[in-house]
Amino acid sequence: MAFKDGFVWGVATASYQIEGGWQDDGKGPSVWDALCRRPGAVFQGHTGDVACDHYHRYAEDADLLTRLGAKAYRFSVSWPRVLPQGVGKANEPGLAFYDRLVDTLLERGIEPYLTLFHWDYPLALYHRGGWLHQDSPDWFADYTRLIAERLGDRVGFWMTQNEPQCYLGLGHVTGNHAPGLKLGWGEFVTIHRNSLLAHGKSVQAIRAYAKRPSQISFAPVGSSTIPASLDSKDVDAARDRDDVLTHPTCWHRALFLDPPILGTLPKGFDEVFGKYGVTISDDDLRTIKQPLDFLGLNYYSSQRVRATENGVERLEYPEGYPQTNMGWPVTPEGFYWMVKQHWERYGLPILITENGMAGTDWVSDDGAVHDPQRIDFTRKYLRELKRAMDEGMDVRGYLHWSFMDNFEWAEGYSKRFGLVHVDYQTQKRTIKDSGHWYRTVIEANGANL
Ligand code: FCB
Repeated sequence: MAFKDGFVWGVATASYQIEGGWQDDGKGPSVWDALCRRPGAVFQGHTGDVACDHYHRYAEDADLLTRLGAKAYRFSVSWPRVLPQGVGKANEPGLAFYDRLVDTLLERGIEPYLTLFHWDYPLALYHRGGWLHQDSPDWFADYTRLIAERLGDRVGFWMTQNEPQCYLGLGHVTGNHAPGLKLGWGEFVTIHRNSLLAHGKSVQAIRAYAKRPSQISFAPVGSSTIPASLDSKDVDAARDRDDVLTHPTCWHRALFLDPPILGTLPKGFDEVFGKYGVTISDDDLRTIKQPLDFLGLNYYSSQRVRATENGVERLEYPEGYPQTNMGWPVTPEGFYWMVKQHWERYGLPILITENGMAGTDWVSDDGAVHDPQRIDFTRKYLRELKRAMDEGMDVRGYLHWSFMDNFEWAEGYSKRFGLVHVDYQTQKRTIKDSGHWYRTVIEANGANL
């Protein structure tokens, strides 16, 4: 059976991962430009200096989107490309690039889905204190206004931020991602608060300054926990694990979703973080909670738990369990549970803003890129998404990660997520078997899965 009418099929990318042109036309540096230059930070010292050279090849890439049959394209704007200092004077050539990109998409009948911040934070603002600075929410709101005024006559779908869990947790607590800080939990609450306020103020700015009616969300990590059985004890244990905070962590659903959607702090927040003397006030929560039109979710993999006498036990996947080239377990049924858990708690229509896998893909002797595992992976995941929709959950669309192979953060170019293969030496693009297959899925509106 086909997916429902109007279901949106597309693909996703992010600016730093594909654009390159890191110093072109007045772009300022980002924290990722800086981290890539720190010895040992990124696999084999790879950088996003050139990446997929999309900054220069966007028109060719738009043709590829057409060849994939994509109806929607999620991309992000590089904040330091349009505001080299993060605030203040705008960089006209940077803005003009996004004008061209958006126009090129629209000419091809592809709907732009714009993410304002997918981790390439302006280095100049980091030097002023970054997300620790009390003005950081306003910096983000001012940047949002610039983009909304410039592109909001043509862009109708907005995501304020991508995976705050990662740029805060990996970027500021464990230090694996830019800017590579290892802050304590008190400072974590400060940056968490500022990033939530930034989201709220950004939503307000889009509503105030975009001319087209706007559909607004953000794109957090779509975490889910799979219950070991359908026994209600297991089902409840799996759900509660992500809803109730029990210890300091950045990897917690409610920590990032309750404040912007429900306007509350998660259960357990005060017990866990209260002792650090920083909090999020009711006033803050009123700004943080803004009406959203949908909930974007990035989904890759899940853990599994079962209920025990005194709590919950995490179950390891058995030896030899299928995993992708990232080492992430293949968990299609987690897709169903993720949608169900988010739908039941937050009640917003859901858009899958990322899903996909890294594989060991290369160009074969016949000139094609054969990636049967990506086809199998995507089919299995999409069937579980359909299962959730068949139970009445409102899922609006699916954006595959990724349109093309790209710079996978600390893993550099060693991981390939694309439906399109990129030869980084020649910049030659080759649509993989999965890309050709995905086109047939789009054409059949999922009826051939
Ligand atoms: C997500 C990121 C995206 C990409 C995929 C594999 O966490 O949002 O940029 O790296 O993982």
